[in-house]
Amino acid sequence: MNLTEQITGTVDRMEDLAEMVLRNPRVALELAPSAVKGYILHEGKQDTFAIHSPHKTLYDWTYKNEGSPVFRDLYRRAYKGQWNAEDLPWDTQVDPLDMQERYILPEKLNPVYGSKLYSNNKADNARLMHDIYGFLLSQFLHGEQGALFAAGFTVEATPWFGAKLYGATQVMDEGRHVEVFSKYIIEKLERLYPINDNLFVIIHALNNSPDWDIKFLGMQIMIEGLALGAFGLIYKFTKEPLLKELLKLVISDEARHVHYGVEALRDYYTKEVSEKVRRDREDWAYEVAVLLRNRFMFYEIRDKYYGERISRKGWEKMILESEIMREFHRVLFSRLIPNLKAIGLLTDRIRPKYEQLGVLEYENMKAADRLSLAELLAA
Ligand SMILES: [Fe+2]
Ligand SMILES: [Fe+2]
Repeated sequence: MNLTEQITGTVDRMEDLAEMVLRNPRVALELAPSAVKGYILHEGKQDTFAIHSPHKTLYDWTYKNEGSPVFRDLYRRAYKGQWNAEDLPWDTQVDPLDMQERYILPEKLNPVYGSKLYSNNKADNARLMHDIYGFLLSQFLHGEQGALFAAGFTVEATPWFGAKLYGATQVMDEGRHVEVFSKYIIEKLERLYPINDNLFVIIHALNNSPDWDIKFLGMQIMIEGLALGAFGLIYKFTKEPLLKELLKLVISDEARHVHYGVEALRDYYTKEVSEKVRRDREDWAYEVAVLLRNRFMFYEIRDKYYGERISRKGWEKMILESEIMREFHRVLFSRLIPNLKAIGLLTDRIRPKYEQLGVLEYENMKAADRLSLAELLAA
């Protein structure tokens, strides 16, 4: 990206922030420090990143406040569902340039496919696809690292003992997800990309919040909901056997995680918090949904391959119309909207905004606590 584009990109992000202020100044103020770190200072592009997380760690010496019985049930299910990453068939030969038989994604899901930028040369297209896999799976890996730490926060900060014990199993699960995705990306793909700015802003905002429910909402409902959809999508299309097996195991864990998030927030938002707080959370979820929608614009691919040939705006238009983006939006919102409705964050007040995004058609689909593994794998 050249300097002019960097400035244009920053101005665009600032315009987004100004619109956010008009929608809800309190939410904009909460997200602003994360936006500055991510979009202007690009702190996510450094190799390491440290942040102070200001939540409270809640001890309870009575051990009586169990919370929902579902927490214990999920805790037991998590025991039974544990798997060992070493048992995956790691000796499988993965060829990221294979576009015929054991491909990671079919050619039609290349975001450039069918456009004037698409090459007639098969070898060029295979190389491009290799980078696209690396970019996508690297974002999953970085999201898993965020989930690992967020799961740790929830153990500390939730008020219920059942939730704290369940959360301990999620920390183990997320550790295993970081293990398998990093191994796959580093050893099989040999393409590790830095974290995307939008994902960085969301992860930063979760860390930066003192409120346990924001960490839950952001990680367990929004990012995990997205991950479940995206993993299901790749599971459905991939012909690469190691990745397929890996995703099936990860999806079986993630199903518990999103179920937990819905269970923890449902009563909290519908019965315990003030209407003002509930409204702010509703707005926070909407803003993060918009950020997540913009998460996979593949700017990194454009900068590497097409920087001189297509403007940033032209690229955005092309990506939004691509098949992979249409599929991605479908899985993202078909997972997210029913969950937001289940926890009381899809009221008549916010519905017109989601309607503008064209995603209300998903509101009567099943929420995460009612989906079977087979339904999740069907994406
Ligand atoms: Fe995970
Ligand atoms: Fe998870």
